[in-house]
Amino acid sequence: MSEKNVVMIKLGGSVITDKSREFTSRNEVIDRLAREIHCFVGRSRTKLIVAHGGGSFPHVYAKQYKIHLGGYSNETAEGVSRVQNSAARLNRLVVERMMEIGENPISIQPSACVLARNSRIIRWNTTILEKALDSGLVPVPYGDVAFDEAKGCCILSTEEILRYLATRLTVSKIVIGIKEKGVLDRNGKLIPVVSKSNLKGVLEWVKGSSGIDVTGGMRSKILTLYEIAKANDEIECVIVDVSKPDALKNCLEGKHVTGTIIRR
Ligand SMILES: Nc1ncnc2c1ncn2[C@@H]1O[C@H](COP(=O)(O)OP(=O)(O)O)[C@@H](O)[C@H]1O
Ligand SMILES: [Mg+2]
Repeated sequence: MSEKNVVMIKLGGSVITDKSREFTSRNEVIDRLAREIHCFVGRSRTKLIVAHGGGSFPHVYAKQYKIHLGGYSNETAEGVSRVQNSAARLNRLVVERMMEIGENPISIQPSACVLARNSRIIRWNTTILEKALDSGLVPVPYGDVAFDEAKGCCILSTEEILRYLATRLTVSKIVIGIKEKGVLDRNGKLIPVVSKSNLKGVLEWVKGSSGIDVTGGMRSKILTLYEIAKANDEIECVIVDVSKPDALKNCLEGKHVTGTIIRR
């Protein structure tokens, strides 16, 4: 618990890839987001973790081999290899792009160090990640496959990774970047705040993902963020449309941006 005021960002898989086309990254979007992040890091002393989703990279194999449902067969093993490789391919790309704009990212491969039970992280020695933060690097973990004590293997959502890290580090803010305005009501209108008073109602109709996604889409995002906020109300949790230029930068700088705040 050596870190003070870590800010964690998730670049949504639907933002940095085209979920309707297999293995298709949106390089210009990754570049722009990397620049916005770099601009913020340059001006502040905040320690940053930049996590990202897998979008049309790992989700293709995850779905094909049903890795999220677990299993122990030879076919499952083949699927685990493919999911981890495709998730890592996108991760290398994000890391490379961040380096190119002058940031010092370091890839953190969850499948190599996380143990899960029923898709929740139960063990992860985060010493290396904390060392990276202490050394001025930006850790870049990502949605990945993991070994699972209960069902053999699972898909770790990026949100679950952030939930676990929030229990290990002193986190001040979590920004979940998506390509919608935020959490939307049944008429497509933005819900600015999700908290105890409206959570049940919101969950009654919020769906999963419209794209390929095996980890539960918006619904599980809300549930995981609510769990984080409930456990620690000092963490500001926001869902923001980072497909809009400067939204991420403004949000990091504490300016008002359109989006949904999740609190207890
Ligand atoms: N009520 C809602 N408000 C916003 N998005 C919703 C809602 N219900 C379902 N979604 C879907 O959830 C998606 C975000 O989840 P997901 O696809 O998992 O994003 P990511 O790939 O960025 O993790 C949105 O793009 C949208 O298709
Ligand atoms: Mg998702």
